[in-house]
Formats: sequence, structure tokens, C-alpha cells
Amino acid sequence: MSAEIILTVELYLQKELEANFRCHRLYEAKDRASFLRENAPRIRGLATFGKWGADQALIQALPKLEIIANMGVGVDAIDLVEAKKQGIIVTNTPDVLNDCVAETTMSLVLNMLHRFPQNEAYLRSGAWATQGGPPLAAEAKGKTLGILGLGRIGEKVALLAEAFGMKVRYHNRSRKNVAFPYDPDPETLAKNSTVLLIATPGGKTTEKLVGASVLEALGPKGYVVNISRGSVIDEEVLIRYLQDQRIAGAGLDVFENEPNVNPQFFALQNAVLYPHVGSATHETRNAMGMLQVENLLLHFAGKPVKTRVV
Ligand code: 8YV
Repeated sequence: MSAEIILTVELYLQKELEANFRCHRLYEAKDRASFLRENAPRIRGLATFGKWGADQALIQALPKLEIIANMGVGVDAIDLVEAKKQGIIVTNTPDVLNDCVAETTMSLVLNMLHRFPQNEAYLRSGAWATQGGPPLAAEAKGKTLGILGLGRIGEKVALLAEAFGMKVRYHNRSRKNVAFPYDPDPETLAKNSTVLLIATPGGKTTEKLVGASVLEALGPKGYVVNISRGSVIDEEVLIRYLQDQRIAGAGLDVFENEPNVNPQFFALQNAVLYPHVGSATHETRNAMGMLQVENLLLHFAGKPVKTRVV
């Protein structure tokens, strides 16, 4: 008999999951509470994705749960404290998305500096023919990229940025054994950077880490790029700094309340906005899905999982 698992959302490798496990679709349940009451005694696994996570209430509703397998590297939407307390294994999908997210990040940096989306909109509006060329932009070469959170993705971005002639420096909670200069806090990093890249994990420990003091340090010639989680920036403060041009611009792949982006962003000509697409390619989503399925298969075969978080 295959193990019974619960799915919080439709997953990229849904067919593989359904071929290997008896899957219960929580996201289709009309009455969530009675769905959980009915199935909970048999549910041993949970497969989830990004913001759908698994909160305390869901974990507590599943007394037989052994494993939560996330598709994605960020586990901020999973209550890790509760999982640990209950002895539940949590897995994620690190590394397989590094290259894709790093490509997205560099495209965000380049789009933001060169204003490519704004320039394309300018052409499509017919303005080129009637008003001449758009305003000049900025380039990456020679600028300093300050990476806030030099993890596996940050290190990959650093390599690409260097290939574009950027200088790299960083801040982490603990210093790493790397050649890049280290700054002791986010404000100093911002002060020493032209482009501040947020690549930290999300969650409570980094909530609103980038607010007025960091943006003030970045200054009117500085740019901020976020590929981490919307929660790491104080969005209201960021919008004010962009509106008043107290920073030069922003490139954002993530937002506080996805997919409901604060509409004040839409009017900003100095911001480039992506709908959380850091890892959104067929190749990478497939690799993430495979790792998610592999972790579940290993666990239910009585073997250690491959990429355990807790
Ligand atoms: C996902 C991500 O696309 O891995 C992560 O943590 O943020 C992305 O790869 C995201 O989880 C989907 O919402």
C-alpha cells in the first residue's frame, strides 16, 4: 500500500506524486476542517510549494505526519518550530535552482540599470517616433554589488556579476571564507554599494531588515534588488523612497502580499517588477519537483532524505 500524503497546492510533478503515493488534494476541499478530520488519521506526508507552506494549525491537524516536503529552497512558510517539536522531517530543494535564480537576478539588475522594460514600453507607446530616444540609463560595469545574504544563490550571482565587471562585497550574520570584502551590518554594506541585492532567507529573523536606515545609507544614486522574500523589505518605506527619488531605483521579484502587489508600485517609473519568477523555468521547476519527490520516496522507503532542513 502506498503512503498517503496531502498536497497543499497543485505541484509541478503532480503525476509523479500521484503515481507513487495516495494523494489528497487539500486545495480542492470545500470544507477544509472536515476534509482534514476525515483524512488526518492516514496522512503521513505533506507536499507543498513556497508560500503555501504548512502552518502550525495544519501541522497540528495531522497527528500521523512524518514528513513535509517543500518544493523550493525557502521554508519561511513552514512552521519549523512546530515541525521540530513533533519530530516531523522537513525537506527543501536547494542548489538545483541556483543557476536559474542567479540568471533571473542578473537580468533584474541589468533591466533595472539599463531601464529595458521602460524603454520597450516607450517604443510600444509610439513615443520614439514622436519624441526621440528615451532618457539615458546606467550600466553594471564598474558598479559595486552589495550582497545581503551570501548563501548558495548569492555566491552564484557574485560570479555572474564579476563577469559583467561589477565589484562584489557582502554582509552575512557570520563572516564567510571568501575573497569578497565584508561589511559588518546592512547599513555599511548599503553605504558601500551601488546595487544592494537582498538574498537572505525570509522569515522572522530577517523581517523588515531593509528599512529607512538601510535605504538612507544606499542614497539617491543607489538601487535595491530583492530576490528573497517581500518580508525582508519594509515596503511602505521603500515605496516612499522610490516616489521621492531618495534612492535611484529598485528591481523586485518578490513582494509582501503575493500575488496582490501594492498598486503604488505600478506607477513607479524607477522600479522593475517581476511576478516571483526566480526559479520559474520548466528545467528548474522540474529539477525542484524531482528532488521533492525523491525526498518523499526515500523517506517512505525507510531511508534518510536527501535535503533535510529539520
Ligand atoms: C519558488 C522560491 O518559485 O525556492 C524558493 O524559495 O522562492 C522559488 O523558487 C517559490 O517558492 C514559489 O512561490
